[in-house]
Amino acid sequence: MKQKNVADHTFTLTNNDTGESWELPVLEGSVGPRVIDVRKLYADTGHFTYDPGFTSTGSCQSAITYIDGEKGELLYRGYPIEQLAVDSDYVEACYLLIYGELPTQEQKEKFTDRITYHTMLHEQIHSFYDGFRRDSHPMAIMVGVIGALAAFYHDSLDISDPKHRFVASTRMIAKMPTIAANAYRYSIGMPFVYPRNDLSYSGNFLYMMFSNPCEPYEVNPVLERAMDRILILHMDHEQNASTSTVRLAGSSGANPFACISAGIASLWGPAHGGANEAVLTMLEEIGSVDHIPEYIKRAKDKEDPFRLMGFGHRVYKNFDPRAKVMRQTAHEVLGELGVEDDPLLELAMELEKIALEDEYFVDKKLYPNVDFYSGIIFRAMGIPTSMFTVLFAVARTVGWVAQWNEMIEDPSQKIGRPRQLFTGYPARDYVKIGDRD
Ligand code: SDX
Repeated sequence: MKQKNVADHTFTLTNNDTGESWELPVLEGSVGPRVIDVRKLYADTGHFTYDPGFTSTGSCQSAITYIDGEKGELLYRGYPIEQLAVDSDYVEACYLLIYGELPTQEQKEKFTDRITYHTMLHEQIHSFYDGFRRDSHPMAIMVGVIGALAAFYHDSLDISDPKHRFVASTRMIAKMPTIAANAYRYSIGMPFVYPRNDLSYSGNFLYMMFSNPCEPYEVNPVLERAMDRILILHMDHEQNASTSTVRLAGSSGANPFACISAGIASLWGPAHGGANEAVLTMLEEIGSVDHIPEYIKRAKDKEDPFRLMGFGHRVYKNFDPRAKVMRQTAHEVLGELGVEDDPLLELAMELEKIALEDEYFVDKKLYPNVDFYSGIIFRAMGIPTSMFTVLFAVARTVGWVAQWNEMIEDPSQKIGRPRQLFTGYPARDYVKIGDRD
């Protein structure tokens, strides 16, 4: 019987110096590129592969998210992101990512209750925030507080116990909006707001972020729907840098809170999730449409470190399908808020138009990515720039959790331990300080 995933052909590798040849197995998935299995390459040939940045390397098998960069296609468990963003909701999509199927009505209600009734934090966790300066970047607070949960929840640290993984996964998905909203409230000196069980996941998040204890707060349904759609768009994205960080940390057996904290730290970088904050900073720096040509020129100049933030992607060589939905959502939200003539949105639209007509961007297939429009929507919703990547982390937590669980349940999983091409000194003897020239 054919072993699972083995294709019916191999690659032959030949050492032209010695004439030796090796047959490398080819593995095939359900859709997308096949892989050449090089797990025995070093043992057989004494050679490593070399792929800094992992541009041609599959790190794992996964059934969660599929991306076709050429087509600009993104599927969560087979369902196109464009359909989920319109027809589903974040909690239902969480169920889909974790369990692999859309829930029945009963399963959805049960899962929603499970998440809703775990949104509250133990009162003692509130004191974690006091160690931070009020002007700390909220992402620094998120890395710290999530990592510190391992010092608090001792009943969900054993990654080999499915019950522990279930509890830790529920806690992270449920509590991230509360932890994130607290980080924002702490930075502006407002009291923490307890979650409400009568609100939706996204409505609760807006409530905990923006309500004032001195007056009633009504969740704006348009903003609630926009937030829910934005969270769906950011949930998971194959083996991106932060997900790979979570998997690598988890491969050593580290506890789930430490793994998610590591993922948040990686997401913070401006080349990754931090780009949404960097796009706003860039648009504000460009300032007006007539400055665009100067910045396009800088983005193309190899001597200038400036890059057009929110453009380009390692996988997408076509429009990021999330950017298309995000652009539509930007118009809806700004229209609802009566700020459709926001100069930054106009600037972003003009920048996108000019870049997409520029030969450099066309040749290098640099299109707007998920981060290009999200900041404009968040800003219109009253979310401060420093919180943009925090929202990305809130949304991506379920993706990290789903991928982390999939890794631990994978029987072929081993500790991640890449090798290197060593370019330093070969062995040499110590020289006493008096003998050094
Ligand atoms: C996310 O991986 C994921 O899936 C990530 C993500 C997710 O959901 O998890 O999709 C979220 O991180 C989106 C990306 C957000 N980052 C930005 O918007 C930052 C700006 N973009 C770039 O820094 C860059 O495009 C990356 C980091 C996104 C991708 O970099 P790659 O794949 O390593 O490509 P590269 O840096 O090798 O660039 C290829 C060429 C280079 O020129 P050459 O050396 O070939 O001449 O394109 C150029 C780059 O200089 N280039 C850009 C550019 N992005 C790439 N030039 C100007 N502006 C840009 N934005």
